[in-house]
Amino acid sequence: MEPTQWIWMNGAFIPWNEARVHVLSHGLHYGSSIFEGLRAYKTDRGTAIFRLKEHMDRFEYSAQAIQMKLPYSSEELSSITLELLKRNKVEACYIRPHASFGYGVMGLNPSAAPVDVTIACWPWGAYLPISSANIKISKYIRIHPRSTVADAKIGGHYVNSILAVQEVQGTQYHEALFLDYEGNIAEGPGANFFIIKDRQLFTPPSGTILPGITRASVIEIARDKGFTVTEKQLSVAEAQDADEAFFTGTAAEMTPIGSLEDKPLRHSAPGPITSELKQAYLDAAYGRSPHYDKFLTFVS
Ligand SMILES: Cc1ncc(COP(=O)(O)O)c(C=O)c1O
Repeated sequence: MEPTQWIWMNGAFIPWNEARVHVLSHGLHYGSSIFEGLRAYKTDRGTAIFRLKEHMDRFEYSAQAIQMKLPYSSEELSSITLELLKRNKVEACYIRPHASFGYGVMGLNPSAAPVDVTIACWPWGAYLPISSANIKISKYIRIHPRSTVADAKIGGHYVNSILAVQEVQGTQYHEALFLDYEGNIAEGPGANFFIIKDRQLFTPPSGTILPGITRASVIEIARDKGFTVTEKQLSVAEAQDADEAFFTGTAAEMTPIGSLEDKPLRHSAPGPITSELKQAYLDAAYGRSPHYDKFLTFVS
């Protein structure tokens, strides 16, 4: 990780190395934290953050899910983020807003604990630095929607994702894929899943997944281009029979999928529609498509 100069923490911009919490912080022990991941892109018109409002709104939603009272509104956190990027003089970066129950109480009920809020940013390249991913079904299932608030971005959820990522380390697979508790495809450890069959897109519905902001953006772009996009349960056999497949996520952006459980998809990755949509998505993110300027907040 390449540090930047400043991290914003609980109301002040402080040097990167001084942004610390106590070892007895509630969030460290129980995963009682929430976070976001955003990207800022270098465009011809300066640095722009992709879908800032949607990410900050989801941050608020995640806080509500664990009854955490954020001392800052999503509008305040958005302007702090813009100021942070200016102060750090970064042209393109990943941005990590985070809030956790802090130091002061131990035991499961965090209601009396203070809330620590931080925003950091740093340059970060491709999440999966490969042109296409060979993926494997994880032996773990995606967290059950009745075990937690599955569509909130809660720190503790990510043990599920970490286990799936660890499972494919050192194997021929680049990434894992979760099934849900009913055996349908859910999503990747940190990205949403799409297939393309006969020029139509299909993606698992919300319920067990984290319905990503990239997912929503790609759905909108695909529909604008005239493609049909359907949210529906997908079996592994259906996905293996697809023409193309890809992951979407802030970190993963759009990552084409080459094979699922060793079965190559019909088009070698990246397939033609994946390539077309990926180009359109990157054009939007890099400010090359005026129609999608609504997705961007410029750091002036
Ligand atoms: C489990 C999970 N699913 C999907 C996504 C993709 O979401 P987004 O496109 O909002 O980054 C992420 C990344 O935040 C994730 O962690």
